[in-house]
Amino acid sequence: RRKIQGKIMKLIMAAPRGFCAGVERALKIVDEALELLPHPIYVNHEIVHNSHVVEFYKKKGVIFVEEIDDVPDGSSFIFNAHGVPPSLVKASKERGMKIVDATCPLVSKVHFEAIRYAKQGYKIILIGHEGHPEVIGVMGEAPDAIYLVEKPEDVDDLEFTQDDKIAYITQTTLSVDDCAAVISSLKKRYPGVSEPKKADICYATTNRQEAVKQIAEKCDVFLIVGSPNSSNSNRLREVAKAGKGLDAYMVNCAEGLDPKWFEGKQTLGLSAGASTPEKIVSAVVDRLKAECGLIEVSEFISREENEHFALPKIRA
Ligand code: F3S
Repeated sequence: RRKIQGKIMKLIMAAPRGFCAGVERALKIVDEALELLPHPIYVNHEIVHNSHVVEFYKKKGVIFVEEIDDVPDGSSFIFNAHGVPPSLVKASKERGMKIVDATCPLVSKVHFEAIRYAKQGYKIILIGHEGHPEVIGVMGEAPDAIYLVEKPEDVDDLEFTQDDKIAYITQTTLSVDDCAAVISSLKKRYPGVSEPKKADICYATTNRQEAVKQIAEKCDVFLIVGSPNSSNSNRLREVAKAGKGLDAYMVNCAEGLDPKWFEGKQTLGLSAGASTPEKIVSAVVDRLKAECGLIEVSEFISREENEHFALPKIRA
């Protein structure tokens, strides 16, 4: 086994990491739909943001589409875990599709908040990333009442008065710390702003970031396994970098590793986004062992997770 510069690199794996309850549920829904519903099965966008998962289902005949026009009337059609705007639900129903909704229940929670606040006459500030499917879905619930902000500076551009009824909601996969900074700016400018009873950033995002934060303290380099379009994976990389300014990298698969990243490093932290299969993580660890001088592997469990979400009834 080759050692880089004579050093032995240790690996600390974060736990929890990888699949969350919403992703597990979404994939079980596709599995059941493949068994029970007329083929082909169409899925809106990517069922979850991981290219390996998407490829796996493509091989089973699932067709992923970006436009509803690519789905023939009456087909079996699954909504992705990030949720969809109500206009898509309506159009699918009008065209007689057999709809199965794989929206994560914690994303649905944010949709319900948007609907409730809009009905009560609130102007809604959505903290989130422009163009992300979750944000597009939530904004579709009340397009005239929702205003998107991404950064604390965006709060300065809001034109509400102190008399306006305003509320905020957030995307589920934001950086907990960055989002807290936006909320704090909002509250400073609009002390009366209403907020959800329970934070919208989901338990899985929160727990994975917390584990990374704790491990990053003990490391001199960090690796996140996740696809480039996965919001929560990108946030994990940022969290790893934020504390001590560590070198933090993200790879979609073992082939993406560059052994140079680990030269002269002693302790590597590793985590995986909520849509990353553990099989991909294992392949990354195998390559680290084979080519990057990795010898010792341990796991740091910052919290136990036992969340599971019920499946919808799928009828043929
Ligand atoms: Fe749901 Fe959070 Fe996973 S919103 S899909 S549990 S990352």
